[in-house]
Amino acid sequence: MTPAGLPEFVRHDVDLSRHTTLALPGRAALFAEIRQVEQLARLAGSRLARRFVLGGGSNVVFSGDFDGLVLHIAIRGRELIGEDQDSWIVRAGAGEGWHEFVGWTLENGWPGLENLALIPGTVGAAPIQNIGAYGIEVAERFLALEAFDLRSGTIRRLDHAACRFGYRDSVFKQQGWHREGRLAITHVSFRLPKAWRARTAYADLAAELAGRRIVAPTASEVADAVVAVRRRKLPDPGVLPNAGSFFENPVVSAALADRLGREHPDLPTYPQTDGRVKLAAGWLIEHSGWKGRDLGRAGMYENQALVLVNRGGASGSEVLALARAVQADVRERFAVELSPEPVIV
Ligand code: EPU
Repeated sequence: MTPAGLPEFVRHDVDLSRHTTLALPGRAALFAEIRQVEQLARLAGSRLARRFVLGGGSNVVFSGDFDGLVLHIAIRGRELIGEDQDSWIVRAGAGEGWHEFVGWTLENGWPGLENLALIPGTVGAAPIQNIGAYGIEVAERFLALEAFDLRSGTIRRLDHAACRFGYRDSVFKQQGWHREGRLAITHVSFRLPKAWRARTAYADLAAELAGRRIVAPTASEVADAVVAVRRRKLPDPGVLPNAGSFFENPVVSAALADRLGREHPDLPTYPQTDGRVKLAAGWLIEHSGWKGRDLGRAGMYENQALVLVNRGGASGSEVLALARAVQADVRERFAVELSPEPVIV
């Protein structure tokens, strides 16, 4: 790798710990804060061994130092770009904070994203893993995105079909585009419905609204209830560093789900349209004895066993050692394979 010839905004030897919500130690050989698409154009084609596109750092584990260029996407801006009979269309820069963006849509009277309030990370990261919570996934509101192709130096527009969304999945994960630093999402647009109805079936959310004696909530009331549930169950990364759910909820065959369900009648199961069954990873981890248990300076959170937390000073390798120990115990006890949700670099 030859840093020579790189643009002046590329910094050398940058601390990554404050760029990830797990606050893991590590340094990037090269680091660029990207505020304008033009900066990406200046980096296109540069012959670097490794590149990595970083947003809010809420879904990434750097296992050590990164011997390449980290592109920290900080492109801002949000606007209403269209409106028709059925919807409002809004577009935001990939570097906007997701929760602030959701708040902005609600303040303007455009509902649809309220169930996704308080999810950490940026607007640009949202489609990559198709963020979801409390009965909705971002794919349902997604219209299109623009991404800069660092190999060809061109801007690409991906519509809904091109993104190939699945549960915590998209073409970006399927192709490894973001982790290879090939495509950097610059803007995302969303279609927000005028014929809106509150989505409140998710058990925790329904209970919170019932507790508040709210029967027909507004979108802002749904967001407030979601925020309250999240604050109760999920640790604030600013206080206890974490990356949200550390594993995906596993989707298993109906036969395995039947067997586990007979042995453990309280195991939460969610039948899928393809006949397979999604299981609650948090339950499996709790019942493997890991809820509130630490290995080294990392642990599984006491109020939600699916959340891996850094108790203070944990390294990337300690986090990965804990993740492997949890996977091994869940595999041994339940014959279920857990996949990490964050990108491991
Ligand atoms: N459960 C346990 N023990 C635990 C944790 C959970 O028994 O320690 C049980 C719960 O009692 C419940 C079930 O597991 O019956 C599901 O738990 P919860 O409602 O807390 O949701 P989750 O499946 O663990 C998913 C998402 C979260 C999202 C919530 C709410 C994944 C991997 N996680 O968690 O997303 O906020 O639902 O919709 O799909 C994230 O992806 O980072 C994330 C936080």
